[in-house]
Amino acid sequence: MDVPILGICYGHQVMAHMLGGKVTKGVHREFGKETISFKDKKGIFQGFSTKEVVWFSHGDQVSKLPKGFKEIASTTSCKYAAFADLKNNFFGIQFHPEVTHTQHGKKLLENFLFLICKAKKNWKINSVTESIISEVRNEVRNKHVIVGISGGVDSLVAATLIYRAIGNRLHAVFVDTGLLRKGEVKQVAAYLRNHGFKKLHVVDASQLFLKRLKDITDPEQKRKIIGHSFIEVFEKTITNELKKYTIAYFAQGTIYPDRIESASVLKGASKIKSHHNLTLPKKLGFKILEPIKDLYKDEVRKVGLSLGLPNELIYRHPFPGSGLAIRIVGEVTKERLRILREADAIFINELKNVGEYEKIWQAFAVLLPLKTVGVMGDARTYEYIVALRAVDSIDGMSADWHKIPNGLLERISGAIVGQVRGVNRVLYDITQKPPATIEYE
Ligand code: XMP
Repeated sequence: MDVPILGICYGHQVMAHMLGGKVTKGVHREFGKETISFKDKKGIFQGFSTKEVVWFSHGDQVSKLPKGFKEIASTTSCKYAAFADLKNNFFGIQFHPEVTHTQHGKKLLENFLFLICKAKKNWKINSVTESIISEVRNEVRNKHVIVGISGGVDSLVAATLIYRAIGNRLHAVFVDTGLLRKGEVKQVAAYLRNHGFKKLHVVDASQLFLKRLKDITDPEQKRKIIGHSFIEVFEKTITNELKKYTIAYFAQGTIYPDRIESASVLKGASKIKSHHNLTLPKKLGFKILEPIKDLYKDEVRKVGLSLGLPNELIYRHPFPGSGLAIRIVGEVTKERLRILREADAIFINELKNVGEYEKIWQAFAVLLPLKTVGVMGDARTYEYIVALRAVDSIDGMSADWHKIPNGLLERISGAIVGQVRGVNRVLYDITQKPPATIEYE
């Protein structure tokens, strides 16, 4: 096509493979920060130092370059960490420029776009926000829209955009499964109410979820029960609303990665979404409205901020659709939920207090249904174990355990055992994914 190409990670390998090079299994897997050494600094590598810190996540690697390509940078275990065919403007990099851990990743992307592709900087987040609002207004006209609020960032931003476009012709349903984090339902609902949402239905279905989860220990069965119960409660609420209003659109916070196959982050969530997608709108004759379907997560966050949503709501870590139920190993009970919620809140607050939260992809507490002996004051205790998990990742597909400073870990452990009744032991999980998964179930 005679256009510049930048291959990143798998793209770098695909490019080598397609053009006659070779990709083989590396001796070592590289995950995390590495220092690369540059041999050449032309093209997209202009302005780089001889040594740069970058972020890797790969097992395979390019072992032979295609014809016309030259080695640009390497690490001790990856010879072709970057290569280029400068004549055709083809570039390949094994590392990830898009993650914050790569020191000058943004510079590299800028070089590619503006020096090599000669792109123009004419895309501004504020104009995106405004154009989405006017598109929604033009599409919906004087009709009514229903939206599901999950408590997460995407549906909150989608709902806020639609609200700006059509005001109280937006009907929002927030199902409280009883499985969200401490204070989350109240915080999100209060935000929406304080910002004018009149038709917000917060449905407390926590008893129903708890009842259906009784005696259930199998993780997949938990997920199924939660997914089905959610849809049931949601449908019931909509049916009630439909008695009073004619609703034409069903809105959801689908984002771009949800629409592409590699979207692994929201496994269960996208499953729940696809249920809505396929059954609800069809059955009730709704048209679909997906205002943020072309945005990536970071863009959704920027749109959210440009709408005035607070950092605290916008920068929360990913949270599974099945909620705390899959962070209690074994049976979910009211008491276990209380313990987990308290421990998790302490963990997260401590991380936030010292600025560690922002450095982590996902951090949370897990309750292990296992009692061990302890001693508190003069008394023997026999209580649960809480495991703490904090991971660095790019997309949730693979992850490394986050190196929380020892002093902070000690403080968190002391605070949890001291403040949460029912816990006398705290463990920190130091397993990578693979072989472990991020969640415990
Ligand atoms: P795992 O545990 O598979 O998690 O390493 C990878 C990412 O996916 C999230 N996850 C879920 N998200 N429903 C969701 O919406 C689920 O059932 C579910 N299970 C895992 C997990 O939080 C992590 O970000």
